[in-house]
Amino acid sequence: MYDLGGKTALVTGAGRGIGAAIALRLAREGADVVVVDIDGVLAEAVAEQVRHHGASSLGLQVDVASADQVDQMVKAAMQHFGKIDILVNNAGINLVKPMLQMTEREWDRLFEVNLKSYWLCARAIAPQMISRGTGGKIINASSKAGKTPSRYAPIGAYSTTKHGVIGFTRSLALELAPSRINVNCFCPGLVDTDMWDQMDRAVTALTGDAAGSLRARAIADIPLGRMDSPAGVAKLVAFLASSESDYMTGQSVNLSGGLEMH
Ligand SMILES: NC(=O)c1ccc[n+]([C@@H]2O[C@H](COP(=O)([O-])OP(=O)(O)OC[C@H]3O[C@@H](n4cnc5c(N)ncnc54)[C@H](O)[C@@H]3O)[C@@H](O)[C@H]2O)c1
Repeated sequence: MYDLGGKTALVTGAGRGIGAAIALRLAREGADVVVVDIDGVLAEAVAEQVRHHGASSLGLQVDVASADQVDQMVKAAMQHFGKIDILVNNAGINLVKPMLQMTEREWDRLFEVNLKSYWLCARAIAPQMISRGTGGKIINASSKAGKTPSRYAPIGAYSTTKHGVIGFTRSLALELAPSRINVNCFCPGLVDTDMWDQMDRAVTALTGDAAGSLRARAIADIPLGRMDSPAGVAKLVAFLASSESDYMTGQSVNLSGGLEMH
């Protein structure tokens, strides 16, 4: 267990999947949590679960790709909690489509949600970490696909955004190191969430294979022989959010059952 008592965390894309598991895990470690999602009903439902853990929580409906909405989000979080110690940039979307067939709008939306929003949130939240002089933690969601493009699905643009998250993490880590703000990212392999189900359905619809067959093929390649759970990813994020990782910054940590080793 990590002691996050007295800390406030803000988690984006926390209405379901990995983000929801992170919000609940950080609450179990003692943090108060701002639960952010583009779907306000999901955000409030997870905020309610966080309160059941005895932590304070605020559920907010925010499109994190919008600079105005991110600024409003930070204003609301600061009014409620007075500070944000931990930012988890987790919101993400995927699109199963060969890059040469994508529209400009599809390309831009992937980059806005998967990469630009991470910068918008860091830009809005890091200054109060710096001015308080207490340090802080920024944790970004990359992916195995951020290191090696997928052989299972035509998700080249998604993979490109996740490579970008690794570059962003390294550059921001250097900028914020003098303020003792650690910036790291996590690189999951296959995690059992709606995002993976949607990818399986989209790919098998294209290939005509049975639903679930992409998942089975991908799992067969994992050395540890199974997908991870959202709670499994949340264990790593809790470590990265805690003082136990104070000497780590700029890192892209694999969590892929041995699928990715560099
Ligand atoms: N599931 C996996 O196998 C896997 C693997 C590697 C990396 N990841 C990454 O982990 C993160 C979480 O993935 P997941 O599987 O839980 O996905 P998910 O689709 O199950 O959940 C993503 C959440 O983000 C929210 N969201 C989407 N766009 C948003 C926006 N513009 N503003 C605010 N919220 C928004 C969605 O409403 C949803 O609740 C993503 O960044 C994803 O790319 C997932």
